Amino acid sequence: MERLPFITGNWKMNKTVGEAIHLVRELKSAMSGIKGVEVAVAPPFTSLYAVHQELEGSSIGLAAQNLYWEEKGAFTGEVSPLMLKEVGCHYVIVGHSERRQFFGETDETVNRRIKAALTQGLKVIFCIGETLGEREEGKTFLLIEKQIEGGLRGLGDQEMRNIVIAYEPVWAIGTGKTATPEQAEEVHRFIREKLEKLYSQKISEEIRIQYGGSVTPENVKGLMNQPNIDGALVGGASLKADSFSKIVRFKEL
Ligand code: 13P
Repeated sequence: MERLPFITGNWKMNKTVGEAIHLVRELKSAMSGIKGVEVAVAPPFTSLYAVHQELEGSSIGLAAQNLYWEEKGAFTGEVSPLMLKEVGCHYVIVGHSERRQFFGETDETVNRRIKAALTQGLKVIFCIGETLGEREEGKTFLLIEKQIEGGLRGLGDQEMRNIVIAYEPVWAIGTGKTATPEQAEEVHRFIREKLEKLYSQKISEEIRIQYGGSVTPENVKGLMNQPNIDGALVGGASLKADSFSKIVRFKEL
């Protein structure tokens, strides 16, 4: 089964509007003519509209980093699925470990966000991953299973077509400690098998599973060579056009 590789840059809380426009201009030129890989960037909310305008006519997609599940109303500080759609987002990242860690996200709130995003026609990058403590206690697979079951609860086959999963071991995020290709592959395979049990072989073969956690131009190829790793969710190395475009061009490295 051929799955189109998908590389996303998660800018986290970085870049002013001016800096975002500058980076995206550099990215457009660094990536012109590239084929056989899907690319998206996820700037902060404040830069989404400006980046959308800058991306017009380019094949780089736009993603938001979070959303709220209500349509509108008295929810100070939150942003709705429709608002994201309107500023040009194709994707939204949901359940990133930083949201789970610092902002109280649970499998249940992640599930509500995913459903709301899909209702508005946004595709979802659904993040899962274990902490170092959980890995050391041998609970990685248990935890991944729980996050998948909780996050995807109630979603049918059709909805799964608009989901990308990002496996991001928390201990590898921003630490420079990448999971080895074998360590990542082991979990990716487990995720695919779990999806086969929950859905079907077809869904599990079609779904793309990104790896995230200290991905760099140096390690991307080894990761992408694994049969069940279909892309990357890149943090730090997505903030510079040079390193991000090298990651996107991993086939040429
Ligand atoms: P780093 O690439 O900075 O480790 O971040 C990974 C990540 O959290 C992407 O969502």
